[in-house]
Amino acid sequence: MQVPIASVFLSRDLGWHFIQNGTSGIIALESIVVSDTLAIFFDRATDDPLQIKNHSAWGALWNMETNTASPLDLVSDTFCASGGFLSNGTMVSVGGHLSTIGGVQDGRMGLRIFEPCNDPSGATCTILEDLENIHLAETRWYPSSARIFDGSLMIVGGTHILTPFYNMDPVNNIEFFPKKDGGVPRPLDLLERSLPVNLFPRVFALPDGKALLIANNQTIIYDIEQNEETILPDIPNGVRVTNPFDGTATLLPLHPPHYIPEVLVCGGTNKSDQIPSEQLSSQDPASDQCSRMTLTPEGIERGWEIERMLEPRTMTEMILMPNGKVIIINGAQSGYPAVSSVRDPVGNTSNSDHPALTPSIYSPDAPLGERISNQGMPTTDIARLYHSTVTLTPKGNLLIAGSDPNINITNGTLFHSEYRVEYLNPPYMTVKRPQLSNVPKQIAFNQVFTVDVDVPRGLETKDSSIQVALMDFGFSSHAFHSSSRLVFMDAKLSPESGNARKLTFSSPPNNRVYPPGPAYIFLTIDDVTSTGVRVMVGDGSTPPVKDQGVRI
Ligand SMILES: *[C@@H]1O[C@H](CO)[C@@H](O)[C@H](O)[C@H]1NC(C)=O
Ligand SMILES: *[C@@H]1O[C@H](CO)[C@@H](O)[C@H](O)[C@H]1NC(C)=O
Ligand SMILES: *[C@@H]1O[C@H](CO)[C@@H](O)[C@H](O)[C@H]1NC(C)=O
Ligand SMILES: *[C@@H]1O[C@H](CO)[C@@H](O)[C@H](O)[C@H]1NC(C)=O
Ligand SMILES: *[C@@H]1O[C@H](CO)[C@@H](O)[C@H](O)[C@H]1NC(C)=O
Ligand SMILES: *[C@@H]1O[C@H](CO)[C@@H](O)[C@H](O)[C@H]1NC(C)=O
Ligand SMILES: *[C@@H]1O[C@H](CO)[C@@H](O)[C@H](O)[C@H]1NC(C)=O
Ligand SMILES: *[C@@H]1O[C@H](CO)[C@@H](O)[C@H](O)[C@H]1NC(C)=O
Repeated sequence: MQVPIASVFLSRDLGWHFIQNGTSGIIALESIVVSDTLAIFFDRATDDPLQIKNHSAWGALWNMETNTASPLDLVSDTFCASGGFLSNGTMVSVGGHLSTIGGVQDGRMGLRIFEPCNDPSGATCTILEDLENIHLAETRWYPSSARIFDGSLMIVGGTHILTPFYNMDPVNNIEFFPKKDGGVPRPLDLLERSLPVNLFPRVFALPDGKALLIANNQTIIYDIEQNEETILPDIPNGVRVTNPFDGTATLLPLHPPHYIPEVLVCGGTNKSDQIPSEQLSSQDPASDQCSRMTLTPEGIERGWEIERMLEPRTMTEMILMPNGKVIIINGAQSGYPAVSSVRDPVGNTSNSDHPALTPSIYSPDAPLGERISNQGMPTTDIARLYHSTVTLTPKGNLLIAGSDPNINITNGTLFHSEYRVEYLNPPYMTVKRPQLSNVPKQIAFNQVFTVDVDVPRGLETKDSSIQVALMDFGFSSHAFHSSSRLVFMDAKLSPESGNARKLTFSSPPNNRVYPPGPAYIFLTIDDVTSTGVRVMVGDGSTPPVKDQGVRI
């Protein structure tokens, strides 16, 4: 029988696909999308192949159009740092490492300023380091951060020195950029209590302006304005989720009109945090547990709701998608982060083994027990273990890079230093998509906007098939996306039929629901998502900014 050519293409094109294209030049152990065409990757200062001036680069601009990397001229070591955007659109990389390589400055107090850059190729984009005048108050390796209601970054925890596994020299406090309290860090009891498994704390800005923090198996709400901690229930069953026992966590999408926050925490391990690392093994199964809690007094009273992933995962990441689902991707099914610190190292220094090669989809609105599936998901053959990253892109696909569970760049072994870049393309990448146009560059709070939409024929356009998402993709580092956020906006399509329609949507009520700063708007119709349009939410001024919009 002759198969029509068109149907062959269809069956190959529909669905989810991993696409490998290009190499990153450095290990992408941190990543953040900084414009429609560019992402930044950061590595440690090491012998990466990408060169700048007369040495190896450890920062790169990844061009998502050409799938090529160009070096960034960094001064200090960005190894195991965090970062995010401020309310004025500037991206700041925070913290880092004390390098042993000559000519590389100590990055632990690093604050690296990448001003908004509209050059599509990145050729004229620069990153500024003025360590003498602009630096953190503390040395911080393995910190995390979150943009808060006034558009500043809150920078949390870390360790002072090179520590092989557990946090042996903790920085048990928080500070802000731009600085508050005269630059004096605030001690945080949570970090003290959660030793020695409190690196890369999971930190979220809540819609009332407070913050949710998770470290080890403990959770608090931190009132930034009152400097008060409220202890919430521990993650159940002894499961621990921060480095070096990395699970991951995300704030689930926030919906109008109440924007009730719910947090989802997945993976990690249920081992005791008192076991010396030499007694742990790369073969210890990770945890398959996901724990979810609604962050209202009633929700906290009910406590954590438990569900199980399809496989155990350590160092996994969760990506919010514009339709409100969550992709669970990357990581390993056994072992731990870090390098050469537990028994049975694999290939030959990885603390983890059994890469998780098939992503899952988590559907937050499905009934308990039916939320996690990998039906229709492809399987990659590239392990993404320690020092790997993934981020949503403006095109609506996932950019995946990195993995290097090795001490230095290592080629030719199992779990070698990984330079291959991959995308995970959702099914909507292969069909005709809605297209937004005439979207204002700036979106004030609590306002109604009308924009143009081109609606492909055949999509169901009833009100319940329309979703408009306002998103921060976050800064990916060590199985966590600092500042990642999705706020849905009430929206309506104009009733007339035909392709050219108007979309009316309402911006978030205030700067606590969406901390002011850059965002992407995506329109999903009938589960087909547009490409994202970049906007500035709020007035784009330098932090700290005043409260805007209306309180809810
Ligand atoms: C490792 O492999 C990369 C990519 O194939 C190559 O560019 C680099 O030179 C190699 N580095 C070492 C130290 O062998
Ligand atoms: C690169 O050049 C600078 C300035 O000329 C010099 O100080 C440095 O030692 C050189 N580094 C290497 C790795 O050759
Ligand atoms: C890789 O990306 C480049 C630039 O977008 C494109 O020209 C090329 O066709 C892609 N290659 C594959 C195999 O997809
Ligand atoms: C959390 O960890 C601490 C310290 O190991 C332990 O005492 C506590 O029982 C754990 N909580 C739960 C709910 O397992
Ligand atoms: C700890 O996790 C392992 C691996 O997932 C599981 O087999 C075991 O039952 C868990 N133990 C407890 C006490 O929950
Ligand atoms: C690790 O691999 C390197 C070569 O890639 C080899 O020289 C070294 O002996 C290996 N180390 C161990 C502990 O097996
Ligand atoms: C890794 O590379 C650094 C810098 O070149 C060097 O100082 C160090 O000895 C290397 N470590 C190992 C274990 O090879
Ligand atoms: C944003 O604010 C930071 C901190 O004050 C400053 O370094 C940066 O230059 C500002 N960027 C813009 C675009 O104003």
